[in-house]
Formats: sequence, C-alpha cells, structure tokens
Amino acid sequence: PIPKPPAPLPANDNGLKLVNDPAHPFIAAGPNDIRGPCPALNTLASHGYLPRNGVARPDQLVTGVMEGLNLGNDFAKFLVYQAFLMNGNPLTNLMSIGMKTPETGPDPPKPALVGGLSQHGTFEGDTSMTRVDAFFGDQAVFNETMFQEFIAFSTKYGFNGTYDLNAVAELRHQRLLDSMANNPELVFTSPRILSAYSEAVFPTIFFVDGRLNNRQLTIDAARHFFDFQMMPADFHRQPAPVNFTIVDPLVSEIFNKHPFTPGVNKGKGNFVLMPETPALSNFCGIYEDIVLRVVPGQYPKPTGALKQALNTNLDFFFEAVSEEHNCTQVFPYGK
Ligand code: HEM
Ligand code: MG
Repeated sequence: PIPKPPAPLPANDNGLKLVNDPAHPFIAAGPNDIRGPCPALNTLASHGYLPRNGVARPDQLVTGVMEGLNLGNDFAKFLVYQAFLMNGNPLTNLMSIGMKTPETGPDPPKPALVGGLSQHGTFEGDTSMTRVDAFFGDQAVFNETMFQEFIAFSTKYGFNGTYDLNAVAELRHQRLLDSMANNPELVFTSPRILSAYSEAVFPTIFFVDGRLNNRQLTIDAARHFFDFQMMPADFHRQPAPVNFTIVDPLVSEIFNKHPFTPGVNKGKGNFVLMPETPALSNFCGIYEDIVLRVVPGQYPKPTGALKQALNTNLDFFFEAVSEEHNCTQVFPYGK
C-alpha cells in the first residue's frame, strides 16, 4: 500500500526552529549519493532531512520539506506529487532527486520515463537561474558563471546587494530573454512557467533565516544553499508554515513587472507564442494540464496496479489544490 502524505506539523512544532542542528549534520554527498537540479532538496538530503542517497518516497519528501524548511502541508504536497507523477516510479513509490537510477526499481512500461528530477522537459526545464538549459549542457549541475550573474543582479537591483524581490523580477526576466535569444529549443509553457516563477521567489522566503525573515537573501546564504548544498551555520527555518497564500502574491508581483505569454522557440530568437496554453495566472488550468496532458503523455493507458497507483497519487496531488486554490478535480483515467 502507498503511504498517505503526512498531515500538517502539529501546532507546537510548526514554528521557528533551529534546523541546522546536531541531529541533522551536514555531510557532503558521497560518490553514490544522488543530487540534482533543486538546491533545496539537495541541501535537505545533505542534512539528513531526506535520505542521504537522494532516493526518496513522496511521503518522505513531504515530511522533509515541512520539517527542514517549513513548507505548508498543501504547498509541500503540490510540489512533491507534481514531481512524483512526472519523475517517480509509481510501482515502487520511489523517486530520485537527480538523475535516473536503478535504485528506483523496475520501471513501468514505456513511454513512462521515471527519469528523476533531472529529467529535462518534465518538472526540470529551461531558463533556470543557476543551471544551464539542457540544450547547452548539464541541466542539473550548479553553474558558477550563472551564479556570478545572480550576484550581479542582486548587486544592481537588490537592497544592500541582497537577492530580494526586485532582483528576482529582473533576473527572472533576463533568464527568459537569454534563452529566447540563444536556445533554439527553448520551451516555456505550462507547467514549466509555474515552476520557473515560483523557484525564482522561493529563495527569498525559504533560504532566509526565519529569525530575520525579511525576504532579502544574502549572497553568502545563497552560496551555501545553491553551491555547497549546505544550510548556513545556526540556520533557522521559516517561523510559520508557508502555503500558497504567501507564495502566490510574490509570484504575481514579479510577473507583473515583466509579463510574458507562454511559447516555444522555433530556432534562436524566434519565440512562437502559444496563447491557447494555460497562462501563469491560470493555476487550475496548469493543474489540469499536468493531469490531463503531461501525466497521460507518460502513462497513456495504464492498467491494474499501475493505474491504481497513479490514481492514488493523482488524488494526493488534487488534495493540494482543492483548498487554497479551489480547483475542480479532473480524472484522466475515469473515476
Ligand atoms: C529547482 C523540485 C522544493 C528551490 C527545482 C527543480 C526541480 C525542483 C525539479 C528544477 C527546475 C529547473 O530549474 O529547471 C522541487 C521539489 C520540491 C522543491 C519536488 C518539493 C518540495 C523547493 C523548495 C525550495 C526550492 C522548498 C526553496 C527554496 C528551488 C530553486 C530552484 C529549484 C531556487 C531553481 C534553481 C535554478 O533555477 O537554478 N526544484 N523543489 N525547491 N528549486 Fe526546488
Ligand atoms: Mg532547468
């Protein structure tokens, strides 16, 4: 049986807390430990909030991000089950936080990918801030040249040289312009548009020490998470669980500074708009796009235990969007 996603943290344990504590020491990833494109999950694995080998069940991922960084329960489930449906193995209930690995067990039939979080064109996509587009090289690994640009934008636009919401808005826009000009295979449509804009904002929330909680990320703290995959010394998580109500307005704010229409490049510098696909503001449309197009793309006609596992995970995914976002559940494989 598939473990249910864990409940919210109890009220006496959902607040400010030292998380870089003796029970969760940093240990650098060893040669057999998998790391990938997400600086938060890499860091949580290196502190033992996730299995240190980088292969985890979705319920472990939900627990890990709640405990380690104080993601709210709905928000954690949204990210984790979205990723799991695209990149995990529904038969073994395991997912790699990086490259594809035999450690997730025997795959379901193709076209299922079970590629891990590094699988390009699923959750991972173009215009990342500290990783190159897959067209240019390894889309999962930290890139120092790009981090220098992250620093330059923080210096130019951020308060006191921090990565704050102004710096986020400008860097996010610049990364899109860069890829439009240079990546002939750029894809910037649902669901990638949502992760791209959310991930730009996340560091100003989750990587800032919860005692300060001023949405101004110092370059030193950014260096720790993005590059060292390590929490800064004495790091405290967010003072209260962070759900959509906190994240959504920040995402809207940066979008409104530089709005865009989804699209794809047909060759360098030739960005073809796709206004018929869900816009960034259409959250439930993106949920439906994932459930009715992306997931069936890998699982066109599942049967038996596979279908059952997919439906269970689709239910968990829906739980995350039913309350704050009030979406209506859709069913790719019938009720
Ligand atoms: C990037 C997964 C939570 C911060 C990514 C990517 C994936 C991913 C697949 C690669 C996307 C790309 O850039 O192409 C997840 C999952 C999470 C999670 C499954 C489950 C909870 C978080 C949290 C943070 C975070 C809590 C908090 C800071 C980031 C950032 C990037 C990223 C900043 C972008 C890196 C870059 O653009 O260079 N994540 N993530 N993630 N994630 Fe996560
Ligand atoms: Mg990427």
